[in-house]
Amino acid sequence: LFFFYSVDSSLAQISINEDEQQIQRSQFPEGFFFGTSTSSYQIEGAYLEDGKGLSNWDVFTHIPGKIRNNENGDVADDHYHRYMEDIEIMHSLGVNAYRFSISWARILPKGRFGKVNPKGIEFYNKIIDNLLLKGIEPFVALYHQDMPQILEESYGGWLNHLIQEDFLYLATICFNEFGDRVKHWITLNEPNHVAEFTYLRGELPPARCSPPFGNCSAGNSDVEPLVAMHNMLMAHAKVADMYHRHFKTTQGGLIGIIAFAFMYEPLRYEEVDREAVNRALAFNIAWMLDPLVYGKYPAEMHECLGLELPRFSNSDKELIRGSLDFIGINHYSTLYVKDCIYSACSMGGDRPVRGFLSTITERDGVPIGKPTAMPRFFVVPRGMKKIIEYLKQRYDNMPIFVTENGYSPKIQHDEHVEDLLQDVDRIKFHKAYLAALASAIRDGANVRGYFIWSLMDNFEWASGYSVRFGLYYIDRITNSLQRIPKFSATWFVSFLAINHTQN
Ligand code: NOJ
Repeated sequence: LFFFYSVDSSLAQISINEDEQQIQRSQFPEGFFFGTSTSSYQIEGAYLEDGKGLSNWDVFTHIPGKIRNNENGDVADDHYHRYMEDIEIMHSLGVNAYRFSISWARILPKGRFGKVNPKGIEFYNKIIDNLLLKGIEPFVALYHQDMPQILEESYGGWLNHLIQEDFLYLATICFNEFGDRVKHWITLNEPNHVAEFTYLRGELPPARCSPPFGNCSAGNSDVEPLVAMHNMLMAHAKVADMYHRHFKTTQGGLIGIIAFAFMYEPLRYEEVDREAVNRALAFNIAWMLDPLVYGKYPAEMHECLGLELPRFSNSDKELIRGSLDFIGINHYSTLYVKDCIYSACSMGGDRPVRGFLSTITERDGVPIGKPTAMPRFFVVPRGMKKIIEYLKQRYDNMPIFVTENGYSPKIQHDEHVEDLLQDVDRIKFHKAYLAALASAIRDGANVRGYFIWSLMDNFEWASGYSVRFGLYYIDRITNSLQRIPKFSATWFVSFLAINHTQN
């Protein structure tokens, strides 16, 4: 099971830089999906309209001090009312896929114990139908950070095993209502990120954390991220089992999950740091993917956490093993990792725990890549190839979709709209990452699609609207919310059009 990662960054760097200039759509396989990604809370708005229930994010963003500039997603990009325009924009880009998420609280305002909201069903039906009319394949996530607040308040959300049944209920409704047209389902977006940022760092609702992360509304033990992940994995397993047994033969789709996937490199050219890289990958990515493929948590975690790690019963193992048709990754960045002398084992982000230091961004004062608006997101294109190779080896070349990859420029104090629109750095970013991806595919990786985060600037969680990942700029200055194409949108159009023969 163990895969030992070796690093030859200098070589990878050279070949990718050369390829970058030449990157073309024709270097990707027939039928490859190129799309854009969004999520419900980040773009929809209409937070109290047409029967929608309150979500955990609706409540959290209204607590003063939680979000930069106290912004919220009440209106967001107003996609709820402007979805036709947004689908038109995607059509003009020339994409053949779009990944979005379903707002749980729009479909089931009160979770399993309330009624289905017909207006919610209608909204997503309109989106799916209009995408298909334009030849755009819908990739639908059932969960992307937002859940009905009532599930959080009544039993503690992901910390309680009851949520597995609630999630299964939501999924079954969605398969019944949309599954005749949706052929790519994603159960959960980034459970590893949710576990870390919700139950360890305490930055996302319900903002529970443990020392040394401060500013939390409630303290917890290090076990909470592990418990939350366990419930998310079992929720996925139940939903995938339901899909495979009752829907797959008639609907013929695929079901996967998305991992938040940083790559790691050893800080020093030493064996101990290479081992630390392997542990970092195990604790961040294999933590969620090993159980779904092999029915057990990674051995690296067992060694370190022992009995703290939740257990799968024999029947759980049956359900969870082999419950993935594909792996989705959201890949943005690469960090250095250093072995450390601390022997304490716990789920610790920046802390010197787990036997590695996870957030090292410089070597000898030189940053690992170009910095961006996000503190841990550095531009390191070679990381794309490496993370794909890691997955290819560890999971026997299972199909992979890059469900997110994107760039957000460092925030300038004297920010000008023209600079935001003339986003040559974003174009460079995508060319370089696409070149690295094409190189991984040439080497045999089974990658089936690439989605840019994001179609348009949107609500970037705790950072509010100040962090912008979009191909389209949204005018919040006049409040018109007009969608204005950036240079990168024009570049994407030409990338998609040139040398493309319709599959
Ligand atoms: C990952 C998340 O899925 C998405 O919601 C977020 O906006 C982007 N990455 C950028 O941070």
